[in-house]
Amino acid sequence: THEAKIAAIISKMTLEEKIGQTNLRGVSSSATSLPTDLKESVRRGNVGAFLNIMNLEYVDELQRIAVEESPNGIPLIFGRDVIHGFKTLFPIPLGLAATWDAEMVEKSSEIAAFEASGAGIRWTFAPMLDIARDSRWGRIAESPGEDPYLSAVLGAAYVKGFQGDDLSNPYRIAASAKHYIGYGAAIGGRDYNTVNLNEPLLRNVYLPPFKAAVDAGAATVMSAFNEINGIPATGNKFLLKDVLRGELQFDGFVVSDWDSVIEMVYHGFARDDKQAAELAAKAGLDMEMSSEAYEHHLKELIKENKVSIEELNEFVRNILRVKFRLGLFDNPYRNKKHTGNFYAESHLAEAKKAAIESTVLLKNKNSILPIAEKTNVAIIGPLANAPHEQLGTWSFDGEKEQTNTPLNAYQKVNTNFKFAKGLDYSRDKSTKGFKEAIDIAKKSDVILFFGGEEAILSGEAHSRANINLPGAQEELINELAKTGKPIVLIIMAGRPITITNLIDKMDAVLMAWHPGTMGGEALYEIINGIKSPEGRLPVSWPKTAGQLPYFYNHKNTGRPADSTNYIAMDKIPVAAWQSSLGNKSHYLDVGFTPHFPFGYGLSYTTFKYENIFISKDVINFNEDLEVKVSITNTGKKDGKEIVQLYVQDIVGSITRPVKELKRFKHIFLKSGETKEVSFKISSKDLEFVNHKLVKAAEEGKFNLWVGPNAAQGLKASFVLKK
Ligand code: IFM
Repeated sequence: THEAKIAAIISKMTLEEKIGQTNLRGVSSSATSLPTDLKESVRRGNVGAFLNIMNLEYVDELQRIAVEESPNGIPLIFGRDVIHGFKTLFPIPLGLAATWDAEMVEKSSEIAAFEASGAGIRWTFAPMLDIARDSRWGRIAESPGEDPYLSAVLGAAYVKGFQGDDLSNPYRIAASAKHYIGYGAAIGGRDYNTVNLNEPLLRNVYLPPFKAAVDAGAATVMSAFNEINGIPATGNKFLLKDVLRGELQFDGFVVSDWDSVIEMVYHGFARDDKQAAELAAKAGLDMEMSSEAYEHHLKELIKENKVSIEELNEFVRNILRVKFRLGLFDNPYRNKKHTGNFYAESHLAEAKKAAIESTVLLKNKNSILPIAEKTNVAIIGPLANAPHEQLGTWSFDGEKEQTNTPLNAYQKVNTNFKFAKGLDYSRDKSTKGFKEAIDIAKKSDVILFFGGEEAILSGEAHSRANINLPGAQEELINELAKTGKPIVLIIMAGRPITITNLIDKMDAVLMAWHPGTMGGEALYEIINGIKSPEGRLPVSWPKTAGQLPYFYNHKNTGRPADSTNYIAMDKIPVAAWQSSLGNKSHYLDVGFTPHFPFGYGLSYTTFKYENIFISKDVINFNEDLEVKVSITNTGKKDGKEIVQLYVQDIVGSITRPVKELKRFKHIFLKSGETKEVSFKISSKDLEFVNHKLVKAAEEGKFNLWVGPNAAQGLKASFVLKK
């Protein structure tokens, strides 16, 4: 078995070589040749893995040195951030989450793995599984959204897509579930900020996607930058050893985030790099990315008995296990015939399908969309023809020359358009392009405004305090509205964008996220009715950044607001007394609901939910509850609906969320067609971690809804009894 082989190798390794396996190194992208000292390090066995080496000759040469010239011939792993595609880019992960489609997510990561492995990459730093409840956080773009259940389903799908059933398949790559853990709970949505999560919250909300990824076989896990309850994740023994290894039974290796070992000094958790190495090692961190605390200090720490050789052996075992699983001992070299088939037609077709499935229709007044074939459109806006911007965060490898923009898509098949950017880029504040844009708008039947955020406005370290349309976009849209022409706003962005000031002037709004390589054709087909938008929000859409963090699965509070007790600020009588305002949990100016709820998304047709049926009013702990609903397509077009089942545990030993997603299903209905959709849930689905840290379902009454989003649905109730 691998374990016997691993033990045999470890028995021959020197201390330096063992430490070498824990080193993950990069090569400066400006290097014109491989630095001699780096080659020497590999020759001595002092490097375990590399990241971001995009020069294939370097990959081949370094691997040759490792395998043929280093003392034990241990192969290297080459890693890269292959996040939502390699060359063929799919929508950003938040967009992929809007598909609510595990098969699509699996396919997208299978294609990403295929292309990336053609470039010598066998390890990706994905999927990112941080629950994100605050759209100010730039990395929400890379997240699966706000819901633990949806994130867990998609997390497992990413891992399967990247890794397949057999990681030694040279077309597959090792996944890294990141960032373990709580990274998305940064206070105020400011990247890298402090995280405080009580343990039930951590376990009920933030852990499930990681558990799903580990259960699906994720080969590696990345520790997060953030501290959590005062202890940085990278030096957190409880999280890395007790929870990840002990409870989740993870047996791959844990890699730090970039410099997150030595950043424990800035956190104020370690005195210096040496102590940072000690704390990370004691916590069970196997491999260090970028910084060199292990390389410089582990030897001494072992000599001083602060870290044991057995602890280091365990890191090496975990790392070698993944190298064996990747088949690197038998097959260390890149297959030179495997070119990755970049931008293959089948890859582009899937990327287009994903973009269509991810696009969320937020508004469609008088069914203005889809537009009729001969409609004269004015294509306006900074994202209408911005090849790089539409690819989104982590798109280093996608070439803008290969990107299909909405303008390209029109140019290819349709002559009924005029184009004027209006603004050069999303943050552009200049009004110099307004006149041209307004002129073409006046001559059109419909204005298609492609706005949003450039790629750089979301992603790592790119948090925003305001999440409205940047630059002079709102101003331009307001000017365009004065023409009286209908406006379709198409947003490309890495996060929900607050549009409360604009929505009334918009006839339709489509959220396209950053839709990737094929975003242009996908949007063309949606706008022109060749395809329907199929996405549903994986995150609540706020009215204003001041509402954040916002998430549908919040608690009720002792004073829950509802529409009967909510008094809007402009309705408060002059000289009202405090007690006359209702004293409920809401904002006077924006109320208590989001602009669009989690799970929301319109379609080109309409669906009616009827006849909710539950198989029993009372179930016991080993019984299933069957829930059925009939759904009719009441519109004129065929269409897909994503049917969602939510549950509320009304009373708990700790307070429970007002709703939690437990199941969802995609159904396709022809116009006029009715289908019965059925779900099964059991007490297993009702379990949660309580204040004693016991995971169990509790007896009592539950509400249940089946509907099109978190704010609507047919309701039923049942009782769980011993
Ligand atoms: O994988 C990333 C991580 O998500 C953020 N810091 C850098 C890593 C490597 O690029």
